[in-house]
Amino acid sequence: MFRNILVALGLLFAAPPAFAAECSAELTGNDAMQFNLDTIEVNRSCREFTINLTHVGKLAKNVMGHNVVISKTEDMNGINNDGMQAGLENGYIKPADTRVIAQSDMIGGGESTSVSFDPMELEEGGAYSFFCSFPGHASLMKGVITVVP
Ligand code: CO
Repeated sequence: MFRNILVALGLLFAAPPAFAAECSAELTGNDAMQFNLDTIEVNRSCREFTINLTHVGKLAKNVMGHNVVISKTEDMNGINNDGMQAGLENGYIKPADTRVIAQSDMIGGGESTSVSFDPMELEEGGAYSFFCSFPGHASLMKGVITVVP
């Protein structure tokens, strides 16, 4: 009986490391067109990965809008070029662009949003990026997604 309790306690304390994978990231964007992160580690053992985006600036989304889009790095320029015509109402992403793996809403100063996706959509060893699709922003507002097995 006592031994069982010890075993149960052991499991209790042994369990946390197995679930230690960070399954979310806190991303901020500011009025100077900058993200706070240049790398986001996505662990494929997460059932779901969430990026929480907060616009810590004051400017409106039609002037300094920010979102977070995830794609293969090689698709980033194409998505941005095609998205420029799509307008603010589509977050400057061509509707149903299949190169987009995940995209959040476009937000303005003081707002926050989040986007979740299945990390299994990212291949191990693949080159992925996150960026803001507001016209011109991805030159500064971009980073690398590191896929962790
Ligand atoms: Co932006």
